[in-house]
Amino acid sequence: MGEPREPIGVIGTGYVGLVTAAGFAELGNDVYCVDIDEHKIAALQRGEVPIYEPGLAEVLAGHRERLHFSSRLDDAVANARLLFVSVGTPPTYSGDADLSAVLAVAESMPASKEHALVMKSTVPCGTGRSISRLLAEQGKGDLAYVSCPEFLKEGSALADFRAPDRVVVGDDGTSWAGDAVCALYEPLGATVVRTDVASAEMIKLAANAFLATKISFINEIANVCEETGANVLEVARGVGLDGRIGPKFLAAGIGYGGSCFTKDVSALKLLAANSGYHFQLLGSVIEVNELQKRRVVSKLARHLGELTGRRVALLGLAFKPNTDDMRGASSLVLAARLEAEGAHVRAYDPVAAHEARRMMPDLDCAPSAAEALEGADAAVLVTEWPEFLALDWNAVAAMMAGDVVIDGRNALDAAAVRAAGLRYEGIGIG
Ligand code: UGA
Repeated sequence: MGEPREPIGVIGTGYVGLVTAAGFAELGNDVYCVDIDEHKIAALQRGEVPIYEPGLAEVLAGHRERLHFSSRLDDAVANARLLFVSVGTPPTYSGDADLSAVLAVAESMPASKEHALVMKSTVPCGTGRSISRLLAEQGKGDLAYVSCPEFLKEGSALADFRAPDRVVVGDDGTSWAGDAVCALYEPLGATVVRTDVASAEMIKLAANAFLATKISFINEIANVCEETGANVLEVARGVGLDGRIGPKFLAAGIGYGGSCFTKDVSALKLLAANSGYHFQLLGSVIEVNELQKRRVVSKLARHLGELTGRRVALLGLAFKPNTDDMRGASSLVLAARLEAEGAHVRAYDPVAAHEARRMMPDLDCAPSAAEALEGADAAVLVTEWPEFLALDWNAVAAMMAGDVVIDGRNALDAAAVRAAGLRYEGIGIG
């Protein structure tokens, strides 16, 4: 028998909160999860998992005895001293991060030197300092504060929790809490970056901004490849082998989506602007991404001519495979643009259709890939779900009315598509 593990609280049961809860429960910690959404808590208590994330339902079910769900913050405060904050920080109309949920948690905390807020929510650099000041003003200056940003990717979140590239722990160096957070992560054997709060906050924003920059960069290279006859897959392979650059996040396509890159890149740009600095590069990263989402429309117009009345099948809607998350998905812009051009869009996603219908109530969602493709003049691969990569292209050719296949993720077997008599076009691969 090892040492008993420290119980923790997790406030906010979205993607980050539930994965953190599941990950620590798996490590043997008792986890006290809190959410103000009582329906969600009731569902979690019944063993239902409100999001789709591979393996999450199984881990939550497998460690039920260590997972406690409540809509009362007091329940977490009474049982744990480390309270992980994983509430939403969506963009406001001005593009800044909305910190109201984070601040509401801080305000609800008791004055206690036995407790610490451990910030997992992505917040602008400077938030920790503001919260510590606010707590001090409220006579709760003894409450410790640690920044512990999250780097998990949706779709592989549990694997990322179990084997993080690094764990970042930022504190002011005077309280017990930073060491306690490091001890929690110790069994994972990860490299720990121990730093101050502001730097920890900036590491998170800079990491997402850099990854988004890599994607916009390779997307622009892909666009130039189309003009010059080079193949972006070959270019990315050759460039990525340079150890200083690395092979990851060099997949050209129809732009990055998801709530995080979209939100964090503009939040960092605004944070810089609000501090008096014009972050030029990020303006371009955002603009390139917006244009990239629309590029498929001109590709379709080149093949089909007038788009009015044309039937276009969208294969995939989620912002990436293995998630039902539609936030910031390129499919939203693509579907709206195609409809605006007068095309009839019929889409299919194995998991995200429900969420897509909620966001685009008029979108025609088919119950299967075959039904989306039936009678289509063109098909567009939007999300590289395994199901689409395994399509029988001879069967697809027989059911489509037209012959255009645009591979928005450079993920299909181009030779197999062409062998079926279809016209194949990817992004930057000729
Ligand atoms: C991203 C970061 O990768 C995580 O480290 C971070 O923790 C997370 O944001 C967050 O801040 O919460 P996520 O949004 O889940 O994770 O997804 P990614 O796998 O990073 O993909 C984002 C988008 O970029 C997807 O639309 C994907 O298709 C696109 N992408 C990714 C490309 O177009 N090309 C690539 O080479 C890689």
